[in-house]
Amino acid sequence: MSAAYNQLLDAAIRHLEDLKSRGGRNVAVSSQTLRELSQPARAASSPVQSEIRNQKSETQKTVATDLILDPQVKAANFAALRERALVCVKCPHLASSRKNVVFGVGSIDAQLMFVGEAPGADEDVQGEPFVGAAGQLLTKIISATGLSRADVYIANILKCRPDTPGQSAGNRKPTPDEMATCIPYLHEQIDLIRPKVIVALGATAVDGLLGQTVGITKLRGNWQTYRGTPLMPTFHPSYLLRNQAMSEKRKVWEDMLAVMEKLGMPVSDKQRNYFLKA
Ligand code: URA
Repeated sequence: MSAAYNQLLDAAIRHLEDLKSRGGRNVAVSSQTLRELSQPARAASSPVQSEIRNQKSETQKTVATDLILDPQVKAANFAALRERALVCVKCPHLASSRKNVVFGVGSIDAQLMFVGEAPGADEDVQGEPFVGAAGQLLTKIISATGLSRADVYIANILKCRPDTPGQSAGNRKPTPDEMATCIPYLHEQIDLIRPKVIVALGATAVDGLLGQTVGITKLRGNWQTYRGTPLMPTFHPSYLLRNQAMSEKRKVWEDMLAVMEKLGMPVSDKQRNYFLKA
């Protein structure tokens, strides 16, 4: 068998073991793939090999062999994951208090993914992340880069709104148990989307994705790595709503400029100077 075939096999086995370790029991496979798998491996001209590309990583400038997921299989797997999340009752207290599971929104082929903490009241009602006041600010930040919400993917550590029994308003932070229970959905989302860059919005997002590190004030602006993917920690937009100082807006903007550069996006002089004092 060719080296490429063996690499593909290894990658597939690693991926399946990873899914299994996170509770996955089924995978969606297209009939075309099943047909291919039932054939003996062919040498250089195997169609399976066409799924392997030697790609020059734009973010890391190194040559990496990457497994390209068939777009139909990717979409089917993503839809199946969404279906599972939408009926999740692993946290019975949240399943009974929520109005909607807030799975995520945007392009499943996005190069840039934003991860927040958990849905608030507005998100719970609409079933979409970041649609309240903090969400509107996030949308402005995304627009300022030249992208739209449809170009990126937005998700949260927790897919359900943390309940606030006895309170008619306000939010609470997810508990460590809730985070540990819900995080496999986010891991699977990231595995399927494979963004080139992740932006972690606030301390809870960093904690969920990287485990506890130093505080967000120290960490923001410093590149981290989530399973090989560059991750930029920055302040949560709700912090910017509480602290309207230009200096804090500029910090988040500088983090976004670094993200744009990492993605090879053009940065105009006007963009470079946002939130700098005149
Ligand atoms: N804050 C978050 O962290 N996520 C949302 O979806 C909304 C507000």
